[in-house]
Amino acid sequence: MVLVRTKGAIVIGLSIAVLSYFLCNNSLSKALSRKTHKLLSPKKPRKGLIGAIGNTPLIRINSLSEATGCEILGKAEFLNPGGCVKDRVAVKIIEEALESGLLHEGGVVTEGSAGSTAISLATVAPAFGCKCHVVIPDDVAIEKSQILEALGATVERVRPVSITHRDHYVNIARRRALEAKDAALMHRNAKHSDAKDVEQTSGYSSEGEKQSTVFSSDCKGGFFADQFENLANFRAHYVGTGPEIWEQTGGKLHAFVAAAGTGGTLAGVSKFLKEKNSNIKCFLIDPPGSGLFNKVTRGVMYTREEAEGRRLKNPFDTITEGIGINRLTENFIMAELDGAFRGTDMEAVEMSRILLKNDGLFVGSSSAMNCVGAVRVAQTVGPGHTIVTILCDNGMRHLSKFYNAQYLSQHGLTPTATGLEFLGLG
Ligand SMILES: Cc1ncc(COP(=O)(O)O)c(C=O)c1O
Repeated sequence: MVLVRTKGAIVIGLSIAVLSYFLCNNSLSKALSRKTHKLLSPKKPRKGLIGAIGNTPLIRINSLSEATGCEILGKAEFLNPGGCVKDRVAVKIIEEALESGLLHEGGVVTEGSAGSTAISLATVAPAFGCKCHVVIPDDVAIEKSQILEALGATVERVRPVSITHRDHYVNIARRRALEAKDAALMHRNAKHSDAKDVEQTSGYSSEGEKQSTVFSSDCKGGFFADQFENLANFRAHYVGTGPEIWEQTGGKLHAFVAAAGTGGTLAGVSKFLKEKNSNIKCFLIDPPGSGLFNKVTRGVMYTREEAEGRRLKNPFDTITEGIGINRLTENFIMAELDGAFRGTDMEAVEMSRILLKNDGLFVGSSSAMNCVGAVRVAQTVGPGHTIVTILCDNGMRHLSKFYNAQYLSQHGLTPTATGLEFLGLG
């Protein structure tokens, strides 16, 4: 007994001696502080606003992963400075336009957008010394145009009409860029001919059509961002989002799924991932009112009623914003897909509340639809797979509709689920 006690005392004594030796020599404390310092050290400063865009975290969505037996990962694009995946696209569009000489510092970038791309363009344009003019349908949540105006963009809210109509918001935006170019040209000519009042002449285009008066006489020209057809959109995801997902998963992913508006995200990411590993399956999740599901699964874009120019995309076709389309865009054409799923508004609403309640994720309608897609993919491929999707923006921009109990009740979309029973799970 005495021997044991003595041995114990020796061991403790020796430990204290060794510890004090290290502490005295400062090597242990140095080693500890080095370790702590490494773990806590902030990442290098990013270069300005533009440098802060991208490199978003990939978040494991615990509730969906546990319910499906798959690793369901969401790329947290809502953490971009402008709050949306579209920040990447806005940067790439402006960078490429400046490089090609189609846009100059002091010029106006115009866009016809249901909101998010426009907000991103308005966010990044000043960092490039440019301005932003946006044309949006008037059924889009009011907070989106409020944000745009607060960011310093000029905004036109117009009636939603078919894309074949000259006054579709995209077509108006295209015209506005030409008008800004005209205004800049007239200003330059007027300066040369020493004209007294430039403003008097800048209200009319060469075709004699009344022009918008939104562009000041010092405007340095205009550039139509054209997110639907401009492949800078695709490239933003091909060189950014796709490679980041590949790196963050160590190349160990089995599937990617997303909804499409312009198709830029789905195309850029799917093309990149397929080039890395053709076994990675890529899928579309399509909201109500969109023709893309038919295109992917049957090869035909339109049903008779959906034929371009015959049917408007009714504002009540879907509560989701920014996704679903009834035409094939240059960006979507680049996508490499293995299949498609349909998602309903009810599923998107229920999903958003599940994510909020279980994971603390307050996401917008397209992100919720993407998560519906991720569960659909999990059900198709079975447990044990890693599935990546995009968390495009957060719920803040969706308060007046998607997160408005009264609006949801009026449209029969009041959420009631306690788990994922609305997707046949649990
Ligand atoms: C909020 C939101 N999510 C998703 C999308 C769809 O992304 P993409 O245009 O790359 O198909 C959009 C497009 O505008 C959007 O605004």
